[in-house]
Amino acid sequence: MTILIPCLVISGLILVGTHIIPKFRPNDVQRAPIYDRNFIDCAPGPPRVRRSWTSFGYGPGITVYGYPSKGGTYRLDDCLGIDLDFLGLDRFNRTPHPPESDPEWQAKEDVHCARMRRLGARWIPPYDDDFRRSVMGPEDTDRYIRVGWPAGGGVWVLNITYLQAGGRGTAILYHAKDMEERCELIKRLGGEFFADPNECPHLDLS
Ligand SMILES: *[C@@H]1O[C@H](CO)[C@@H](O)[C@H](O)[C@H]1NC(C)=O
Repeated sequence: MTILIPCLVISGLILVGTHIIPKFRPNDVQRAPIYDRNFIDCAPGPPRVRRSWTSFGYGPGITVYGYPSKGGTYRLDDCLGIDLDFLGLDRFNRTPHPPESDPEWQAKEDVHCARMRRLGARWIPPYDDDFRRSVMGPEDTDRYIRVGWPAGGGVWVLNITYLQAGGRGTAILYHAKDMEERCELIKRLGGEFFADPNECPHLDLS
């Protein structure tokens, strides 16, 4: 009896609660067009405002963003000094995106995105907020790509999964002092060399 009474009270409260508290329904603004009606996205839609090309958190690397004219977002995670130099971005100060008041802003974004693709940037389609990965981090089966551009021409690419990257100890790449050393390490980690970068199937250089 002493157990039954609290049980009854709690079930009663739950029953009343589910009927009294109105269910949340997304309105038309919150509901992204590609989702079906019953899907409630707790972090909906594309960012309305473009973000800076870079911003610095606690590191070790930073994420670089780009906004191509085809829509969506390019993202390059874990960028270090070598990547920022390659992209022509300031290593110690936030690089703002070109403002909309600049008539060339979209062209500048496209040039920036093309540079990002040379390092294997991921494209995130419109209405995809990359929620799973931003919260949970990459999964074992996600693609792990690292790219090295040697001064002598060609390109070195390591295109594996995060699980394989862990097994091979790709963290050594963080300790490369420059792009040449990164290329040597990519080779050592089992990466491939392409004398003609346009023939590399891992990069979208078009
Ligand atoms: C690159 O690696 C990913 C993850 O293993 C794989 O799905 C993809 O097919 C690879 N790309 C090429 C062109 O082999």
